[in-house]
Amino acid sequence: MEKYRINGGRALRGEVEISGAKNAAVAIIPAALLVEGVCRIENIPQISDTDMLLTILAELGAKVSYINKSTIEIDCTHARYQDAPYDLMRKIRASYYLIGSMLGRFGSAKTTMPGGCNFGVRPIDQHIKGMTALGATIDVKNGFIYADAAGGRLRGARIYLDKVSVGATMNIMMAAVLASGRTIIENAAREPHIVDLANFLNSMGADVRGAGTDTIKVNGVDKLHGGSYSIIPDQIEAGTYMVAAAATGGEVLITNVIPKHLECISAKLRETGTIVQEYEDSVLVKGASNLRRVNIKTMPYPGFPTDMQPQMGALLCLARGTSVITEGIYDNRFKYVNELRKMGAEIQVDGRIAIIEGGRRLTGAKVLACDLRAGAAMVIAGLCAAGVTEVEDIHFIERGYENFVGKLQALGADIEMVDVSETVELGDKIISLG
Ligand code: EPU
Repeated sequence: MEKYRINGGRALRGEVEISGAKNAAVAIIPAALLVEGVCRIENIPQISDTDMLLTILAELGAKVSYINKSTIEIDCTHARYQDAPYDLMRKIRASYYLIGSMLGRFGSAKTTMPGGCNFGVRPIDQHIKGMTALGATIDVKNGFIYADAAGGRLRGARIYLDKVSVGATMNIMMAAVLASGRTIIENAAREPHIVDLANFLNSMGADVRGAGTDTIKVNGVDKLHGGSYSIIPDQIEAGTYMVAAAATGGEVLITNVIPKHLECISAKLRETGTIVQEYEDSVLVKGASNLRRVNIKTMPYPGFPTDMQPQMGALLCLARGTSVITEGIYDNRFKYVNELRKMGAEIQVDGRIAIIEGGRRLTGAKVLACDLRAGAAMVIAGLCAAGVTEVEDIHFIERGYENFVGKLQALGADIEMVDVSETVELGDKIISLG
């Protein structure tokens, strides 16, 4: 087991290249199961979530070949319906996409209830509502989800989502591409990765229209064919480096991004006094000497993303004045606050609202990555803190950030991955962690 050790206080400087979007890749990989042919997919992020999904697909009979570190070919021509590796499935959230892709391809699916970060209850009732409307019978028992399409093929339907859900929108889209007839998804989510999945499916012969709006129309086709596709850059990875640059008072050029996808993050950072300059496929972030307080409310895209909320929480500990964060998506996404308090942050949480008394000097401490983005927030706090910070449970972070340590080191951060048993000097105390 490993942890990150950070010696804080260095401003980040230089250039960082953003990898492919995790939340697009974790949908596009299962979607390759719908294709009888070779899908060449570029810009795949090298993270543990994509590794696990590729392993699951290979177990289902897909041939997976790496062309280079970020380009793969997936050939599901000879994939067959069989039991998938459930121990892997229950570790990741995105395994729910196998319900849509297996139902679409085989007319049947058996998956576990999905895993992933714990932000309180994360139901999948809207996924089930959608699959049921498409003619599937769904049975949830003993932690497994069993799905069967009547007559072996789904049929198009009109589906209104009661809640704007990224996962349900993408899952229903996947299930619908090989269904007979037309499916209409209303109150659909509009995130960039939804458009990316639609573009991937269309480049393989599907007929998906309206992705990026709240109404998506899918005209079912009989078969998808192979093709090439390049995944969009990761909006949240980019946002994380933007906040890290701002929080450390550095200057970082973030390349391989789509600035339009970052607008909500850029706008909030500008409110703090940070300078954000947009170019065609990069953004330059220059930290301000005195960060200003801001209020944030997380919302579905194009609102401020919940997946950037913890990182901004860390930054706002440094900003002068009182900031209020309202979490609009999840019930329990403030677990990282306890960890920030260990570093001297002053934050009150009441349900979905956090009140941050800023202007603090954070000090190094031993903290936990409670989940993926909470972990990123602790790293940002550690980069700004005086002294040494150690972040444990980094397997959460490795799920979603490609080469996090290497990219931060290249920006001048004093961060390394060490064995958890190593002894460390925190402040003036020597603590044995063995
Ligand atoms: N919801 C329901 N019923 C459902 C589905 C969702 O009530 O059937 C609720 C959820 O509990 C939540 C809200 O609707 O309160 C939105 O959930 P959504 O379905 O949009 O989230 P998700 O698909 O489970 C994806 C990302 C998350 C990201 C959210 C919101 C993946 C694998 N995960 O989750 O990513 O926070 O969308 O943008 O794509 C992350 O990357 O750190 C991460 C957690």
